[in-house]
Amino acid sequence: MSVDVAFTPASLAKDEVAGRGVFVIDVLRATTTMSAALYHGAKSIIPVGSIEEAMKLLQTLGSDDVLLTGERHGKPIPGFGLGNSPLEMTESRVKGKTLVMTTTNGTGALLATAGAAHVYVASAVNLSVAGARARQLMADGVDLLIVCAGRDGRFGLDDAYTAGRLVMETLGSRVRLDGLNDAAVAAVDLVRRYGGRWDLPLVRSAAGRGLEAIGMADDVGEAAKQDRYPVLPVFHDRRSVVVPG
Ligand code: MLT
Repeated sequence: MSVDVAFTPASLAKDEVAGRGVFVIDVLRATTTMSAALYHGAKSIIPVGSIEEAMKLLQTLGSDDVLLTGERHGKPIPGFGLGNSPLEMTESRVKGKTLVMTTTNGTGALLATAGAAHVYVASAVNLSVAGARARQLMADGVDLLIVCAGRDGRFGLDDAYTAGRLVMETLGSRVRLDGLNDAAVAAVDLVRRYGGRWDLPLVRSAAGRGLEAIGMADDVGEAAKQDRYPVLPVFHDRRSVVVPG
């Protein structure tokens, strides 16, 4: 059985997702925000690649019970109902709604995994449920692949650390290197460096510093709360919904 990590979607080889259990991570903030929205009762989330696509989909679906959400340069998109902050995803705003979402890196990472057998959304806020599903998939003989969204096509410390935490949640803290690719080994080494402190790698990452610079440090704090939103979003048929418990 293998557990591989890809530090960016661009580093995925052709067909690498095929037949595997895939977990997509964009801890700051897209996958954290998706878990927050679904935890608070959003019906589903449809990730799309561009603002134009989101607008078009809104016209097709109609605006009743559909909300546009996302960011560019970390900030809410003009004309969209919501940004990309987990703290915005309150029950009063999202319950019963379908969210059409576009973000700089996270939604693209999800869309890059088309063809996988199972695609789940992971971050600190749902680590335990994601780990439980990863263990179950391994027990069923499914190879795993953890795909980090990264930042603008580059390595992101925040996502890589989260990937390491998910590897350890899956395999236990005495991880054997057999069956791990080098990125997975490096991700586990990051966890050994930072230990259980989510705040250290998140605050130090470029994504964390970028959010602080635009006044969104509270989102980094929220994203660092392990198991804050214990739901497991599954991406299937072009949308993410919660896996029934
Ligand atoms: C992304 O998808 O690039 C991120 O979630 C950016 C952000 O923090 O808004």
